Amino acid sequence: MLPITAPSAMRAHAQEVRHAGRRIGFVPTMGALHAGHLSLVAEARARSDVVVLSVFVNPLQFGPGEDFARYPRDLQRDTELAAGAGVDVLWAPSADAMYPDPPQVTVAPGPAGDRLEGAVRPGHFGGVLTVVVKLFSVVQPDVAVFGRKDFQQAALIRRMVRDLSLPVDVVVAATVREADGLALSSRNAYLDAAGRAAAAALPRALASGVGAFRAGERSAAALAACARRMLEGERGLAVDYVACVGPDDLTPLDAVDARSVLAVAARIGGTRLIDNVVLGAGLEGDIRVTG
Ligand code: PAJ
Repeated sequence: MLPITAPSAMRAHAQEVRHAGRRIGFVPTMGALHAGHLSLVAEARARSDVVVLSVFVNPLQFGPGEDFARYPRDLQRDTELAAGAGVDVLWAPSADAMYPDPPQVTVAPGPAGDRLEGAVRPGHFGGVLTVVVKLFSVVQPDVAVFGRKDFQQAALIRRMVRDLSLPVDVVVAATVREADGLALSSRNAYLDAAGRAAAAALPRALASGVGAFRAGERSAAALAACARRMLEGERGLAVDYVACVGPDDLTPLDAVDARSVLAVAARIGGTRLIDNVVLGAGLEGDIRVTG
């Protein structure tokens, strides 16, 4: 595996790969790698010749008072995991190299960027889309893989690629979950044992929504209420939102169908967790890991 730091070196390498007629698959991350990230590497591998994984904790997407300073950083461990997963190039640029000056020109996510996560984290998706377009511009990927775990992020990236005519295919991969259904997340590391137990209420809430959907419930309000009850029954967990939305533009719905997404966000102590499910697919469409 080739480690690269400077954006100029990454760009030069990408150009060489492309001139050799080989396809670049790209997995952008903020590090603290887990099996969810590695499943994206496998997707990229299946669709390309050279897999580039970036590790960059992007300051632009963290709000004041969020966890930028304490976000887990361990490049040594990430390097071992990435190499073991078959990554060809690990690109870990510095913040100074990515942002020599605070950017004045940024990407505006549009109305879907103000919903759900965007409503709770103002400016977050502008920061995400801006860094993703910068990463794309350096790596020049043919295909980029994102996780459905962050489905609003993935939907906005798809939309950005379409609206800005970016020459990259976006693939969105299934969520990787623990045995009890908790979606893997770098932020799970913040949880103590009680918090970890409480966190299992998120997938339980999604499963109860799916159960109601399968029993014939089509009212978005009723499904959200069902999931919310499950979350509110968990002590030490505070609900940020529970919503049924359209899969592409995240519009709030009155009536759901199989493509609709049930999305939840909750705080456990100082840790914010998000999760979602496509109602027609259910959590069994996702990947479970054990141990
Ligand atoms: P990060 O949170 O590190 O996630 C990197 C990618 O891994 C994202 O596409 C995310 O959706 C995916 N992912 C996270 N948990 C997953 C899980 N349990 N199963 C499958 N995929 C999972 O998302 C970001 O970083 C950043 O916003 C980024 C896109 C890199 C821009 O800074």
